[in-house]
Amino acid sequence: MFSLAVDLRGVPVLAVGGGPVSARRVRAFAEAGAEVTVVAPVLCAALRTLPAGVHWHERGVAPEDLDGMRLVHTATGDPEVDRKVVEMATERGIWCVNASASTTGTAVVPARATVPTPVGTVTVAISSSDPLRSVEVRNRISHHLRTGPVDLRSRRPHEGWVALVGGGPGDAELLTARALTLLHSADVVVIDRLAPQSVLDTLDPEVIVLDVGKRTGHHPVPQHEINRLLVEHARAGRGVVRLKGGDPYVLGRGEEERLACVEAGVPVEVVPGISSALAVPAAAGIPVTHRGVSRGFMVVTGHDEVPELPTDSGHTLVILMGIAGLPATTARLIARGRSAACPVAIVESGCTPHQRVTVGSLATIAGLAAARGVKSPAVVVVGDVVRLGPDWIAAHSAEQRASA
Ligand SMILES: C[S@@+](CC[C@H](N)C(=O)[O-])C[C@H]1O[C@@H](n2cnc3c(N)ncnc32)[C@H](O)[C@@H]1O
Repeated sequence: MFSLAVDLRGVPVLAVGGGPVSARRVRAFAEAGAEVTVVAPVLCAALRTLPAGVHWHERGVAPEDLDGMRLVHTATGDPEVDRKVVEMATERGIWCVNASASTTGTAVVPARATVPTPVGTVTVAISSSDPLRSVEVRNRISHHLRTGPVDLRSRRPHEGWVALVGGGPGDAELLTARALTLLHSADVVVIDRLAPQSVLDTLDPEVIVLDVGKRTGHHPVPQHEINRLLVEHARAGRGVVRLKGGDPYVLGRGEEERLACVEAGVPVEVVPGISSALAVPAAAGIPVTHRGVSRGFMVVTGHDEVPELPTDSGHTLVILMGIAGLPATTARLIARGRSAACPVAIVESGCTPHQRVTVGSLATIAGLAAARGVKSPAVVVVGDVVRLGPDWIAAHSAEQRASA
């Protein structure tokens, strides 16, 4: 077999058989723009809602079904019928795929996977004498392309682009597959302090890495300068990943950066990341909601005073950037009606080897944090869910043992 990619737009394709194999191929042919006709006495569940434009003849195949077709796919589950369909197609000079015995057909569909990159889609197509083996190899290669350190950069001149990528809470294992694909497609990576730094080691040494990390009260690279860098590199025909901590749209100025790109006419994609607001409590064993304990949660910044906050301890508050203002925030929460006994956990450097958890109540947590030298980055969790975490349980069972 000679590997070839063909344009199926507007091409009449006959699919004989209504089982799951036929269903997968019918969808793929229709997605590729073919005019698909299905001939089968019955359709499996996957084919009962036929893709738009696909016609079904509810009967067995007849020779005239092949008239005017340019490609035939047979997967009837009956080797004799499939063999006959191949024979009829071959007599008429039509390419024919036999799904039940691929070597007897005159065409094969390779095991395929696509990896969309900002400068075009990469398609992996594997064929071998054993279709199952092809699928295994396809799966491994496409997984490696999506998530492994495969250099996907285009070396030819191309239009510049920017991707605002959520890097998660700091552990490179929590990057999304899309984040990795884009990182390995980028010519420039503009990285924040809280984004996973270790992923940089997997990039090609030619990739330009710009560290614009902000620290509390100290902004080494101002926001307008970051916006300018993104636009300038993209305008120079480079692919730019702006690797941000957590999710770009959760207290992350992602929209400001997106708008700067849009205003400059630079193509921009936003890739969600795992926000520290969810991941960091989870890493400390604290679910932000739990049936019977908390029905919802609210994420707020500790930098500014937020006027209306839920006061019942069954509604979880997750405070980011809350360490410097912790005494004022806790006092305000109590003054506004939260119980002084409401449980609080502070999780520093969550999802990293330096993670540390401090637990207390609204009344005690600011003092405990000062005594333990709690530092940013940290997530403050306020509410009854804190009682579910191992640190609260350990602290309170120790108290009980001491008082017994
Ligand atoms: C500017 S906000 C950005 C939040 C980010 N966009 C997100 O979705 O996680 C930075 C704050 O996120 C929190 N944070 C981010 N990563 C953290 C981590 N690994 N451990 C604890 N807190 C973290 C801290 O409250 C930190 O001050």
